[in-house]
Amino acid sequence: MNQTIDLILSHRSIRQFTPAPITAQQLDLILQAAQAAASSSFLQANSIIRVTDTTLRQQLAQLAGPQPYVAQAAEFLVFCADFHRHLQIVPQAHTGFVEQLMIGAIDGALMAQNALLAAQSLGLGGVYIGGIRNHPRDVVTLLGLPKHVIPLFGLCLGHPEQLPEQKPRLPQAMVVHENRYPEQLDRELLADYDRQIQNYYEARSSNNKVQTWSSQIEATLGKEARPFMDAFLQSQGFNLK
Ligand SMILES: Cc1cc2nc3c(=O)[nH]c(=O)nc-3n(C[C@H](O)[C@H](O)[C@H](O)COP(=O)(O)O)c2cc1C
Repeated sequence: MNQTIDLILSHRSIRQFTPAPITAQQLDLILQAAQAAASSSFLQANSIIRVTDTTLRQQLAQLAGPQPYVAQAAEFLVFCADFHRHLQIVPQAHTGFVEQLMIGAIDGALMAQNALLAAQSLGLGGVYIGGIRNHPRDVVTLLGLPKHVIPLFGLCLGHPEQLPEQKPRLPQAMVVHENRYPEQLDRELLADYDRQIQNYYEARSSNNKVQTWSSQIEATLGKEARPFMDAFLQSQGFNLK
């Protein structure tokens, strides 16, 4: 092991922060790390909105849930897929393809994970906020996002005021497959993992519940997943050709 692997393997989302600020130098390093990520076709098809206005923060916290840590974190960054910049440079550019949506989402996630890891390496913590996609049209209005720019997710960053237990991940054998996708789900491994997650939820120090991973998946995927997203994307110029 080394320090980098140790850092990656010690990840947990942080949702409680002290009021201490992140220094300008720390923030600059975090943003440099974000921009250092690889970029599909070197399109650099992302923008980050740093939300410093407290009213705006509170509005976003409300829209995202409410999720109060969006307002409380030292920093809140909104990662966007952005083809507006390209269209200003090349107005006749062909945009709106599904592939470009994938590029914007993939590259945005790579940037954000670099940012979070950089923050964690500085002793900070954070949590992603997909909740901003609950009301994407309102987020577009609040942040003044032009057509061809969409909010992907937010990232709260700050000084941790909690050290939650780490959430166990699926066994590697259920996730990593050699050469071919397996014909059958390994139900024995799944049962072990369900027990492990049930124990985790029962024993963790806050927000205890009785739930297996399978029952969590059933609950989450038993509901519609933001069915308005297609219309929203179309209206922002991601026509999904
Ligand atoms: C793109 C993305 C969006 C997320 N959105 C939220 C969110 O809106 N609110 C929240 O509390 N956690 C959010 N999370 C955090 C996950 O709930 C968390 O990563 C997962 O439960 C695993 O826990 P861990 O990060 O502590 O290991 C999000 C994570 C990702 C990757």
